[in-house]
Formats: sequence, structure tokens, C-alpha cells
Amino acid sequence: MFLKGVEKNRTKEKSERASLFRSSLLRWYSENGRDLPWRQTQDPYKIWISEIILQQTQVKQGWGYYLRFVERYPTVRSLAEAPEEEVLHLWEGLGYYSRAHNMMEAARQICNEKGGIFPSTYRELLTLKGVGAYTAAAIASIAFGEAVAVVDGNVYRVLSRFNGIDTPIDTTAGKKLFADMAQEYMDEDEPALYNQAIMDFGALQCRPKGTVCEECPLERECLARKADLVDLLPRKEKRVAVKEESIRYLLCFSQDGELIVRQRDKKSIWKALHEFPTLSPEDIDSPGYELLWETTHQLTHRRLNIQIYASEQKKEGLTMPPFFSIPLESHNRIAFPKPLREFLDRHFPLHPSSE
Ligand code: ADE
Repeated sequence: MFLKGVEKNRTKEKSERASLFRSSLLRWYSENGRDLPWRQTQDPYKIWISEIILQQTQVKQGWGYYLRFVERYPTVRSLAEAPEEEVLHLWEGLGYYSRAHNMMEAARQICNEKGGIFPSTYRELLTLKGVGAYTAAAIASIAFGEAVAVVDGNVYRVLSRFNGIDTPIDTTAGKKLFADMAQEYMDEDEPALYNQAIMDFGALQCRPKGTVCEECPLERECLARKADLVDLLPRKEKRVAVKEESIRYLLCFSQDGELIVRQRDKKSIWKALHEFPTLSPEDIDSPGYELLWETTHQLTHRRLNIQIYASEQKKEGLTMPPFFSIPLESHNRIAFPKPLREFLDRHFPLHPSSE
């Protein structure tokens, strides 16, 4: 009897805490929420595009990509019918090109199997290629008002700190704990506002580093703040090892001065993007190769050291498929991985009129 009473009190405390969190968060959002272009629409297609782009990059960089994307492909049908090359070109620089491939496939799925009607529930959204729990929850809540909580890095950070939880977020137990808590905390009356509020709160207020807790409306109730654990949460169990890799490219031209390139394999990183011919370490040991440019490029688990060489000697086989050549002045018409794009733009800048 007594224990039951204690349990009841705990449950009540927990739900009061969640309710206080919710109302403070929504008040904070009404005063501080960002006016972002994808917040002007209820169109699930556009919200989907924005969410995929924002998985790749921060709001500041994603903004332009989003506007260009929805201008060029204003409907799911226009994306389904777009040439792959053109979509990849628009995606250029965002990285994770498999996301762009998945988007095209999902658009075709919607047009071919669902009569061009965008799925409207969390469950059905999950059947789309490349749409996982986070994206499905974002679209279902923002476009259709379904009360499913998003769980992303922001949510892990905010909830682990507010409740002072050090269960690692990259474990099965941690994932379940935070997914349940996110759903429990969500505002069932305002799912769209709540999910966007927690995203903005994580991005602007409860930031990974340099958080100004003195200005936080939840400071008094925040358990991490009380225990001086803000900078230690959320916790991760595994440190991911970063592997170093080198790629050596040869900048070379055909007899009539065109740039020699090939399209990358559809199975590897930078799927279907273009690159220069590659060199082996032994090639470079022989005389006549001059290092033109060097940069590093960080992927999730790999750091690529990229070198671009010029050579006076001819390398065999570069005039045959898979190689082909393009006029240097039209290098901006095909998609390259970010480091190669940077090299081309810097060394062979094009005038705006030719873009
Ligand atoms: N990050 C991911 N999705 C977002 C959204 N809809 N608004 C702001 N930041 C986001």
C-alpha cells in the first residue's frame, strides 16, 4: 500500500517534470524559434527535402541547397522524373551522395506505387527508401500533426542534460531509454511545434559546446546543471576510430586540351560523381610527377588525404573508357566530390556567364 503510494508520487512528479519542460520549451520557441524557409510550408515533399538536407549539413549551409532544390523540383513528380546526373549536381558539396540516390528512388516509389500521393503516416513513411525513424517522425509531425517524437543528436543532448542521464546514447539500452523518454515528453497537442522547438533549442540554446546556461529557461530544473555535468552529457560509449587514407589524382588533358575524368563506381563513396584518374604510390615515386595541390577531407570514419599531381609523361589508357574528356570551361556542369570541386573552382575559375 505504502509502496504503491510512493510509486504514484514518482509517476506524478515525472509527469509534472515533463509538462514543465514542454511548456518552457514551447514558450522559448515562440520567442526564439528561427524563421526558416521550410517552416513556411506544410507540403510533406518539401519538409522531406529539408530534413534530408539537414541531416547532411547545418541550417546555415542547408538553406541555399533547400531553396535551389525545391525551385528546380517543386513536386515529388518532378524529382522522380529528373535525370540522376542533374540531381547529383545540385546535391554537389553536401556529401553522403547515397542520400540523394535514395531520395530519387523514394520519389519514384511514391509516383509508381502510391499514385504520386505522399504517404501521410509515420508507419507508411517508413516504407520509403532512405526514410528512417527520425525522418518519418519529422515529416509525420510537421506536415500531418502526428504525435511522434523525433530523436536526433539535439534530442539526446537536451533530454540527457535536463534529466542528468549518463546512459550512453550509442547503446541499445540508451537508444530505447531516450526514444521512450522523447515520446513521453512530446506535446501531443502541438507535435509540429514541439519537434521543431526541441531542434532549435538544441541548436541555439542547449548547444554541444559553449552553452550559456545562465540564459536557459530550464536552468533551475536541469539536473546536469545542478551536478555540473553539462559538458559531459550526452555520453557515448564507443570512440570511433578514424582511418587515414590517401587518394592521388592525376590532372591531365586530352590532345585537344580537354580535362580527363571518369565517373565513380555506383557502389562506393561519392557514388556516380566524377573524378580524375588515380595514381598508385609507385607511379608517384617515378620522376616527372609534380604535386599541385593537397588537402584533407573528413568523412565519418575516414580521413582522406587527397593529392593532385601533374605530369609531363603520358599515362597509358586514359583516352579509353571509363575515361572521357570534358571541356575545361564546363567543369561546373558535372558533379565532383567536394575536394575536387574546390580544386577546380580555385585553379580554373569560371566566369559567372559560363555557369
Ligand atoms: N534540423 C533538422 N531538422 C530541422 C528543422 N526542421 N528545423 C531546424 N533544424 C533542423
